[in-house]
Amino acid sequence: MAVDLDILPDLDALADATARRFVSAANEAIRARGRFLVALPGAATPRLTFERLAREPLVSQVGWSHVQVLWGDERCVPPNHRESNYRMACETLLNRIPIPATNVHRIHGEDEPRAAAMSYETMLRSLLRTPIGPPRAAPGVCIDLVIMGLGDDGHTASLFPGSAALSEPMRWVVAAYSSADSMWRVTLTPAVFNAAAEVIFLVAGASKTGVVKRVLEGLHHPDMLPAQAIALSHGRLHWLLDAAAAADLDR
Ligand code: 6PG
Repeated sequence: MAVDLDILPDLDALADATARRFVSAANEAIRARGRFLVALPGAATPRLTFERLAREPLVSQVGWSHVQVLWGDERCVPPNHRESNYRMACETLLNRIPIPATNVHRIHGEDEPRAAAMSYETMLRSLLRTPIGPPRAAPGVCIDLVIMGLGDDGHTASLFPGSAALSEPMRWVVAAYSSADSMWRVTLTPAVFNAAAEVIFLVAGASKTGVVKRVLEGLHHPDMLPAQAIALSHGRLHWLLDAAAAADLDR
């Protein structure tokens, strides 16, 4: 598996690099297959990237009507809740770009968590033309680009340390309880992420220095450091870090 690592001076440069990679990946996929499937993260770090995408010079470089927007995870809250990943993406990106509402596939965080996971899996299987069986790692039937974050405890999406979701063999989307914020969430499983054509980890800030070192240069313990469970079967894994997050890396 190819792993690329880039260190940018600060969050601003990181957002710029991530947004530019989004635009290139979108254009490559749309040229080749007429559509681009992207899965977004939540929380704070991606805000600036989303805002960049929503502004010139980048916004007019994407054929937004060919983009299908997914989420890697969602908190179990209504879509207008301040903790909603969907709401954050709407405020920073989706409400500002010419994308048809039917291209935006949010996780229904207001539903019962297991039901929300199940209906998201059904939608995803239909979008990826895979009604049964495991996710397939091939263009047109996999997610083109997944952007992910890294939590201080090594979680990514809503795959938390010790979670059963990490070893889920069949399901593409599951409900997962986050004891850190006492909240149910819904998350895609590693099998889906690992079939993607490209995954970008977007990580910034001094609070991430230690965990970045453990995930990238420490022992392999995906059960305790879920970000290590992201190991693509065919695609490109790309870590984009700011200098603060990368400060302790040997390389
Ligand atoms: C979420 C996530 C989560 C996030 C990390 C890092 O919705 O909370 O998808 O996995 O990406 O917690 O968040 P920050 O980069 O904002 O610290």
